[in-house]
Amino acid sequence: MQVIFTTSPEFAQVALNELQMIDRQSKFLQWLDQGIGLIELGDVSFSDLAPQISVTKAAFIRHICPVMQELPFELTNLQSAVADQIPMFDRAATLSVQIRSTTKEINRFELRNALTDDLINAGLKVEAKDPAQIISIFCNHTTLYLGFSNALENLSNWAGGMHRFAHEDEQISRAEFKLLEAIDVFNLKLPTEGLALDLGASPGGWTRILRKLGLSVVAVDPGDLVNSLQSDPKIAHYRQLVQQYLPNCRDRYDLIVNDMRMNAGDSAKNMIEASKVLKQGGLAIMTLKLPSKGVKGVINNAIDILENNYQIIGIRNLFHNRQEATVVMQSKSR
Ligand SMILES: C[S@@+](CC[C@H](N)C(=O)[O-])C[C@H]1O[C@@H](n2cnc3c(N)ncnc32)[C@H](O)[C@@H]1O
Repeated sequence: MQVIFTTSPEFAQVALNELQMIDRQSKFLQWLDQGIGLIELGDVSFSDLAPQISVTKAAFIRHICPVMQELPFELTNLQSAVADQIPMFDRAATLSVQIRSTTKEINRFELRNALTDDLINAGLKVEAKDPAQIISIFCNHTTLYLGFSNALENLSNWAGGMHRFAHEDEQISRAEFKLLEAIDVFNLKLPTEGLALDLGASPGGWTRILRKLGLSVVAVDPGDLVNSLQSDPKIAHYRQLVQQYLPNCRDRYDLIVNDMRMNAGDSAKNMIEASKVLKQGGLAIMTLKLPSKGVKGVINNAIDILENNYQIIGIRNLFHNRQEATVVMQSKSR
């Protein structure tokens, strides 16, 4: 079975290495575009790939989709291949057509509309948002790669893992998208009341999201919070380094987040300190800032440190992460 995998272009080789560690018999075929690779699986089936990515804590594979057919680029070819598949779809579940192409000359909207009309006429529930089943199409001038899968198997139910969020007028920072994406990708149920600790909070994007969820927030950062947050009685801002705040902290937290601009190993050590003020079973979300070389070593070192006091739930270089990876974890029982 062939699979298209998507990664950030900077980490393409690291992602390929991760895949080849998971499936040592797999064969890399070609890069279809920047950060988009085609691989032939060996020992591992497509449905086992997403669970294996999560078990092995592979962080750089952002999205996968199967390739069932490779066809010459022609709308009629595509329509008849999709028509053949129609009896196999679950009619009770939603379905989306996700099309990516390497060239602007291909009109993805026209392609999608033609296929969507056929699917709707056949009685299927076509829905772009949160689909349960996905038809994945990747095309260039000459070739169409076509696959069908359940959304959970693809690691992300957005085409190529490219999560898009609407801009809100009150938005404080681009960093907000990282937290929203982590909640979505890891399917997190964050507390909607209680107390959250935001380490490295300035200018306040993550604090704003946590307040919106219903949490009260302690924000720690020597930098300022934007004016709109300063008058909120449910936000306390400690204008300190976390190394100064944590040793004297008396509060206990339902959730801790950390987006500090800091070397990954040091940030992980601070999270060990922070775990002492996180309630048992409480969630923590952090970003690990990565160097341009030796990323796997840096991540493994940070994970080794974190695993002393946390159980790692997931780690991923998200679409809205730049040179970083997001880690979600839960405090271990003490
Ligand atoms: C990327 S910004 C955080 C953005 C924030 N999450 C948001 O949504 O607005 C990183 C922050 O980490 C803070 N930082 C770096 N080292 C720190 C430390 N030792 N203690 C507290 N904050 C620190 C910086 O002051 C900076 O404001």
